[in-house]
Amino acid sequence: MKNQLIIRGGKRLHGEIDVSAAKNSVLPLIACCIMSEREIHIRNCPAIADIYSMIEIIRSIGGRADLDGTTLVIDCKEANPKRVSSDLTGGIRSSVFILGPILARFRHATISYPGGCEIGLRPIDLHIYGLKSLGVRITEVNGMLDCDGTAKSGGIVDLDFPSVGATENLMMAGVLGQGTTVIRNAAREPEIIDLQNFINFLGGKVSGAGTGVITVEGVSALSGGEYTPIGDRIVAATYLCAVGVTGGNVRVKGIKPEYMHAVLQKLRRADCNVTEFSDGVRLESSGKLRAVHKIETQPFPGFPTDMQPQITALLCTAIGSSCIVENMFENRFKYTVQLNKMGANIIVKDRVAVVKGVPSLYGAPVSAEDLRGGAALVVAALAAQGESVISGVRHIDRGYDKIEQSLAVLGADIARI
Ligand code: UD1
Repeated sequence: MKNQLIIRGGKRLHGEIDVSAAKNSVLPLIACCIMSEREIHIRNCPAIADIYSMIEIIRSIGGRADLDGTTLVIDCKEANPKRVSSDLTGGIRSSVFILGPILARFRHATISYPGGCEIGLRPIDLHIYGLKSLGVRITEVNGMLDCDGTAKSGGIVDLDFPSVGATENLMMAGVLGQGTTVIRNAAREPEIIDLQNFINFLGGKVSGAGTGVITVEGVSALSGGEYTPIGDRIVAATYLCAVGVTGGNVRVKGIKPEYMHAVLQKLRRADCNVTEFSDGVRLESSGKLRAVHKIETQPFPGFPTDMQPQITALLCTAIGSSCIVENMFENRFKYTVQLNKMGANIIVKDRVAVVKGVPSLYGAPVSAEDLRGGAALVVAALAAQGESVISGVRHIDRGYDKIEQSLAVLGADIARI
């Protein structure tokens, strides 16, 4: 994959765009397939690096996984996960999701600590605590986690924090076998509801997703079938930020606006005109924006940390000063150094960034260092005067399917070289 984006900024964006299935839904769904011995089709799947990493993990444990156009076909009948290669799990944080499903079906799992994180420490203590609460015995040997689930049963898990990944892992751990698993202080993200719907579609028994208490009743087996996950609210909101800052009029389709209310409210405060439809959102903007007093990242339904960099990029040229507080990850402002290279005026202290609006950004050579920080550089470059060259595009490719093609359709001057 070539690795630079060249963007000549200043073009207004117009038109319509469809988003693919949400990366953060598809990743746990792929892991969930490990529990079924039937073929499963996941539709509208984006061709992005994180999905390919999970496909490799499924193959490495003897499952079949192929992205056929936009349909991901998975068959884990022959899976036999004796030990999952640390070369694979070390590359992607979401590999931790396979723990719950492997324990549910095979009762034993050995994996290395998951990797793939540039935005903070991201420990997995809540995953481990939760699994232990369900009777799984976990020991650490030479950096590998050995998990013995022969005594696993149902139980109650009280999470200290509503971790998205831990909630999903524990939901999946409870799907097969006897007993009832109750997760309290569960994460309420839309992707958790999607996972519940997927498990129930396959014959599982999960209820409560979208609230703070999720109940999973064990069943003896899961079936197969074809499922379409929810659209990607983060990709959709990234495109809305791009239109907001360049000016223009774009309708983003394939997402539920109610899953994006925290972001839409801030875009309205910044003077964007936002219209909601049952299957999408239209944003009209003059390109002249106002600062937003304060944005603070929170678990859903609060403002998503995954949109913090992109909205910060949008606010760089807004009139006035905005204050951004990052509560979820300790190292998620690295990209601001790159935005300042483009003429932004951002001061960061610990978990707070103060963005003083400037009249214009200027094109510059900048480098993406993580997925959403990279998306923020794209948003900024689209509005900047002159040419920007963005390197480190592999980070952006983890979560955006050919971002240059989507933006070019809307009228952006963007190319991959
Ligand atoms: C998921 C999303 C990610 C998003 C994040 C927060 C996927 C694949 N990724 O990540 O895009 O940014 O939710 O919305 O869905 N924590 C612990 N111990 C744990 C687990 C988490 O301390 O065992 C901490 C993390 O370090 C972080 C916070 O909890 O500070 C939130 O993490 P979590 O909700 O688990 O995020 P992920 O599931 O990793």
